Amino acid sequence: MRDQHRSFTSDLVAAMRAFYSETPADLDVASDPVASSLLPLPLTLLVKAVGRPGLARLVHHALGRASFGLSYGVPLRTAAIDEALRGEVSAGCGQLVLLGAGLDARAFRLPELAECAVYELDHPSTQGYKRLRVGSLEPLARSVSFCSIDFEQQSIGEVIGEAGFVTQERSFWIWEGVTMYLTPGAIDATLDAVALYSAPGSTLCMTYVTPERGVIRRAGLISAGKIGEPILGALSQSEVRSRLERRGFSVLSDTDSRDWARQYWATAPPSLRVWERLVVARRA
Ligand SMILES: C[S@@+](CC[C@H](N)C(=O)[O-])C[C@H]1O[C@@H](n2cnc3c(N)ncnc32)[C@H](O)[C@@H]1O
Repeated sequence: MRDQHRSFTSDLVAAMRAFYSETPADLDVASDPVASSLLPLPLTLLVKAVGRPGLARLVHHALGRASFGLSYGVPLRTAAIDEALRGEVSAGCGQLVLLGAGLDARAFRLPELAECAVYELDHPSTQGYKRLRVGSLEPLARSVSFCSIDFEQQSIGEVIGEAGFVTQERSFWIWEGVTMYLTPGAIDATLDAVALYSAPGSTLCMTYVTPERGVIRRAGLISAGKIGEPILGALSQSEVRSRLERRGFSVLSDTDSRDWARQYWATAPPSLRVWERLVVARRA
């Protein structure tokens, strides 16, 4: 992240969620009607234009093919995380921490969070914009606290305690679409802190990219660098597992975008390459 520039990728993924909220029900697996109100106006207008009935399904296929499935991955990963979150909240978990929240609208779109305190942690440049856009939106969550942090420079312990987070109570942590933009050192330091602040039974959902390097992957890496958000923290499945286990988490599942497509869309589109994985882990 560059200090004076808010994250562009957070706009892009929110735009994908906003777009999918306009698509027919079989595609709209993680409905996010709030996303379009958080986007900058040009993206809101674009989403409305391409999300028109009759056009949305065509755009879904075209974007998916053009991006080798990158666009498919966004609503699918959100659906997979929402499902895990709903399960834990219905089992009494009352604290949700969004690490690198971007334009995540869970606190404003999920009625299941009515008894849940939400802590949104993000880089100040991205969070400043989010707070402006959220404006007078009423959260559906019990409360929402915004905490600014640079994961490369600070520990989450410096900010969430002050915001009212209760370390002794179970918590649910979402690190969605963020680790790849962090250095391995920042990932490790943040995992240390997540472990420290997670009461037994807490859950972490973390997406990550693996270090494979095909031609298409390379093109993706170059594009990320060009928009100022280079991929810094690719990790193999075994590296993720060992990092989590070392910190007292056991891995419940480690799935990829093709698994999510089969689960939520019944089949994985042939153009869908695996860009990202989701690990769900529980603190012992
Ligand atoms: C692709 S966006 C994902 C946003 C959100 N989790 C979602 O899925 O919609 C990446 C997020 O990581 C945050 N981020 C990147 N580097 C960061 C850093 N060093 N410290 C704090 N946040 C960072 C950005 O501000 C941005 O919100």
